[in-house]
Amino acid sequence: MTPKILVFAGSSRVGAFSGKTADNAQKELALQGAEVTRISLADYPLPIMDEDLEREKGIPENAVKLARLIAAHDGVLVATPEYNRSLPSLLKNTIDWVSRVSKDNGRPLHPFSGKAFALCSSSNGPFAGIYAINHLRTVLVHVGCEVVSPQCSIMRGQDAFDEDGGFKDPRSRDIMTTVCQTLIERARMLSTRIGE
Ligand SMILES: Cc1cc2nc3c(=O)[nH]c(=O)nc-3n(C[C@H](O)[C@H](O)[C@H](O)COP(=O)(O)O)c2cc1C
Repeated sequence: MTPKILVFAGSSRVGAFSGKTADNAQKELALQGAEVTRISLADYPLPIMDEDLEREKGIPENAVKLARLIAAHDGVLVATPEYNRSLPSLLKNTIDWVSRVSKDNGRPLHPFSGKAFALCSSSNGPFAGIYAINHLRTVLVHVGCEVVSPQCSIMRGQDAFDEDGGFKDPRSRDIMTTVCQTLIERARMLSTRIGE
């Protein structure tokens, strides 16, 4: 079975290090035989999570669209930036809204439940977003995702990529290979289990 993997970054900034990290993941996953869908969260704008808004207007259509996309894939890879030692509000707000989706046209839809996830992080400093990736892991595990252990963290983003966008450091390439391999294996296993 060809695993379907969704890839996105937690920043919509032009030239974002997390976007470049996601590019590397996208290429590596495709090399390893996955069918990859790459999206930008900029294409799914959402209001700040507000339960009054939710009660009055319902869950925004973009959150439902993202929930459907996640559900339609066997695994998801997220590349997060780090803001103030945590994940950025764009990513947290997106997860918060999608976590409110439990139905689609009356049918049950639990996009995060038992879904294989892999995480990457990046920053412009020496700590490579490790605080953000740990917080992101906690949030995703809380909503029911199966987050694989290997993770790829890229420090000093301004120096980390060559002119073609690839990682300069071969160790980053090796770690990304391991992350993608593990995600594909886990996605296959969990999808088979669901399909049994
Ligand atoms: C609000 C804000 C908070 C930040 N906090 C951190 C931080 O805690 N740790 C860190 O390494 N970099 C931090 N940075 C710098 C980011 O690593 C840098 O801006 C990075 O390029 C953002 O990710 P992106 O390139 O994927 O957009 C922060 C940047 C912003 C705008």
